[in-house]
Amino acid sequence: ADGPLVDTFGRIAKDLRVSVTDRCNLRCTYCMPAEGLPWLPKPEMLTDDELIRLIALFVRLGVRQIRLTGGEPMLRKSLVSLVARIAELDPRPTIAMTTNGIGLDRLAAPLRAAGLDRVNVSLDTIDPQEFITLTRRDRLADVEAGLKAAHDAGLTPVKVNAVAMRDVNDTDVADLLAWCMDRNYELRFIEQMPLDAGHEWQHSTMVTASEIRAELAKRYRLTPLDGRGSAPAERFLVDGGPHTVGIIASVSAPFCAACDRVRLTADGQLRNCLFANSESDLRTPLRAGATDDDLEGIIRGEMWRKARGHGIGSPDFHQPDRPMSAIGG
Ligand code: GTP
Ligand code: 5AD
Ligand code: SF4
Repeated sequence: ADGPLVDTFGRIAKDLRVSVTDRCNLRCTYCMPAEGLPWLPKPEMLTDDELIRLIALFVRLGVRQIRLTGGEPMLRKSLVSLVARIAELDPRPTIAMTTNGIGLDRLAAPLRAAGLDRVNVSLDTIDPQEFITLTRRDRLADVEAGLKAAHDAGLTPVKVNAVAMRDVNDTDVADLLAWCMDRNYELRFIEQMPLDAGHEWQHSTMVTASEIRAELAKRYRLTPLDGRGSAPAERFLVDGGPHTVGIIASVSAPFCAACDRVRLTADGQLRNCLFANSESDLRTPLRAGATDDDLEGIIRGEMWRKARGHGIGSPDFHQPDRPMSAIGG
């Protein structure tokens, strides 16, 4: 078959999010238990050659951005060479990474040289004690050094992702914004989604986009920007500019209608949505000698099953079994 990767609602997949490992060196309370999770055994993970074969196929099928995610993607030892191999594809996709920033102080320059275009770094607070409470690790200085190195290496715009949590960082959002604006990082706040390993998320306690906006408005004048396209964040000019702040209202204002994403897990399962309750296995056929046409058929079938939206809040919503750290966000 020919043509782009389309679903039954006419959406076209342009952005492939690839989880390169499910492991992480932080233990954010909204994501993982303190003891970690049962990590994928190595033989179940796609090798670099397998990843490149699939990514190349997606690029032939119209994908134009590859986002490397985890767990923490920099825990994959071959990451720099993976980036270099993705950068050799024709047409060359944009290459982005979502990371917690630990290790980026050393890796920013080599990743940039290999072809990485930009990074989004997760940082929920700049208060040292709060950072430890939240991530269960004393690594704030590493994240700050990573952010600086990314900016210096030209992995720009450097974006910072902050998940808003009630009674934790919800009253500090303006401080984080001031800190990011000082350093030219583009901050986006995220509504917490039901993807925690412990299945403890509650709609009623989630900090909403409008609450975040109201808290920021105590210190800053926010002017909505338009031209959002398929981007998840609604952006605002801060005090007339030039800096902006984004709010990703995944729950209270879903952007599913404009979704252009598809996801590949580290063990080679294709997911048409963050909240999908089923996946398509690409690893087994890949290892059994499938042709590109065979794989394309599976990929098109998975996209064809993509639901209209995530349905959080509806009575038949069911949180996926796989936690965020094994999907890649
Ligand atoms: P940009 O291309 O830089 O805008 O990246 P991004 O915001 O798409 O990616 P990032 O990995 O930084 O994700 C930020 C937040 O948006 C995370 O909480 C993601 O889980 C969430 N997000 C990304 N893609 C989707 C999606 O398709 N659906 C939903 N509901 N949330 C998403
Ligand atoms: N809801 C929203 N965002 C989350 N992230 C991790 N878990 C959740 C959740 N339950 C964020 C991370 C990272 C991005 C990939 O997703 O902080 O910035
Ligand atoms: Fe690791 Fe990201 Fe999960 Fe935090 S949110 S534990 S940084 S995978």
